[in-house]
Amino acid sequence: MATADNTENVGADGELAHHGADGVRRRDFINVAAVSFAGVGALAVVYPLVNQMNPSADVLALASIDVDISQIQPGQAIKTIWRKQPIFIRNLTPAEIQEANAVPIGQLRDPETLADRTAEGKENWLITLGVCTHLGCVPLGAAEGENRGEFGGYFCPCHGSHYDTAGRIRRGPAPTNLEVPQYEFLTDTSVRIG
Ligand code: FES
Repeated sequence: MATADNTENVGADGELAHHGADGVRRRDFINVAAVSFAGVGALAVVYPLVNQMNPSADVLALASIDVDISQIQPGQAIKTIWRKQPIFIRNLTPAEIQEANAVPIGQLRDPETLADRTAEGKENWLITLGVCTHLGCVPLGAAEGENRGEFGGYFCPCHGSHYDTAGRIRRGPAPTNLEVPQYEFLTDTSVRIG
């Protein structure tokens, strides 16, 4: 797998891995481009409207989303979309929580504890933007079987940023941790983002 990244014709398994990783990258770039374009278009249309009246129902609907998290088992994550950006919601295992809490804060490029990045009493729910803080690619690690990088969190294949189990940058060019959006738990199994 590690050798497949820059190698063609390395055998059936290696080739599949290569194409799979490339496919993800291309899609991610296309997503980013499409989002930027849509954002500019939407702004131009929406601004004169909201300038004169309260936000309409569909604008408010975009402002927050409610997500059912009841099916996310410990160790699993899901991707969703909020304000046209990918969001990762991850249910950390006790071992992943322990791993995050064992890191001396002074070793971190962007010093934050897991508690700083999660809701009180719900340290196992790591909710972040799925947007690398380097140049905006979508990191791997939320879907089953994806590369989670050297620190078991997320891995951005664009330029090799490794995030840990708290979504904190640990190696590679990204300057800051994966961003935590505003959210609140409506119930134990439902979270409102935004
Ligand atoms: Fe993620 Fe560059 S965009 S490492």
